[in-house]
Amino acid sequence: MSEVTGRDVETLRWKDGRLEMIDQRVLPARFEYISCDSAAGVADGIRSMVVRGAPAIGCAAAYGVALAAWKLRDLGSERFREEMERAFEVLAGSRPTAVNLFWALQRMRARMAVKPDADPPEVAEELLEEAHGIVSEDIRINRAMGALGAELLPDGARVLTHCNAGALATAGHGTALGVIRSAVESGKKISVIADETRPFLQGARLTAWEMVQAKIPITLISDNMAGHLMSRGEIDAVVVGTDRVAANGDVANKIGTYMVAVLAQRHGIPFYVACPLSTIDLGIADGSEIPIEERDADEVMGYRDCRWAAQGVAVRNPAFDVTPADLVTALITEKAVVKRPTTDRVAALFAS
Ligand code: MRU
Repeated sequence: MSEVTGRDVETLRWKDGRLEMIDQRVLPARFEYISCDSAAGVADGIRSMVVRGAPAIGCAAAYGVALAAWKLRDLGSERFREEMERAFEVLAGSRPTAVNLFWALQRMRARMAVKPDADPPEVAEELLEEAHGIVSEDIRINRAMGALGAELLPDGARVLTHCNAGALATAGHGTALGVIRSAVESGKKISVIADETRPFLQGARLTAWEMVQAKIPITLISDNMAGHLMSRGEIDAVVVGTDRVAANGDVANKIGTYMVAVLAQRHGIPFYVACPLSTIDLGIADGSEIPIEERDADEVMGYRDCRWAAQGVAVRNPAFDVTPADLVTALITEKAVVKRPTTDRVAALFAS
């Protein structure tokens, strides 16, 4: 079974029959892996944000299925398939917005369906191979997106990004940060401005950590500073990732992305979305149908052990928002750059 090699950051890795994931809740203060040996453990890791970012969630879920099959391989075929169904359900219930989770589970199901009469041990081997394949493919796709996206950034560009769409959010290289990494690799001088991304601080903790590791110049701002910098001509482009793109090109991404897109349009700054084809959900006509996760109020009331909000206050915590397609300058996919996405242009991506 081929395992995955040649990565900058090993967000998740298969080791001695277990899935190890960098614990993204404690970065950058601590760099440590959490080890999982069951689908329920992986689902917990996704729910609690040990692993996060749409493609990384998909990869983790694929390994969750592989782990379940390995544990259940001594059962008879019928019981094995019943218990596997439960594992699929547990993983599908972990987080609702990133479509890559459901895409990866569907791929694992399809792999099981190829040999409906195979013995459980054989199915377990096939599923592990499929999970390794999804991870290797994700890195290849990110590199292809990076190459296409890098051409859109002028030399010297100061690029704003929101949340973390980097190696940590994928199997490696990243989507939005992959575009930036590829532009730098091609010899362009690029600097990054990272929104801190309240309430979970993916920008301050994860994007900042990744760019510092990669020695790419990065400046951190709080989310409410982006408009000011844009109005002073200090931002040349915005590049973000996405959790789900509807058939018409509406983009769900980390809460606050919509605000950045509106500001970018106001200031005539291009707003790019790095988006693997696995993140496009053709089953959803527009962004109003994308399920938006509401997370625990505690995340807004404070951070970790520190609480600053008044006790008794009502709190909302939608984790994602939807940017309408007409604010998107281009979707950067591994296949092509789709300028000004519309239903027809998105459909054309899948036509050939
Ligand atoms: O809640 P998170 O951290 O999982 O949200 C992640 C994002 O919104 C990313 O921008 C998106 O998943 C793209 S990751 C390549």
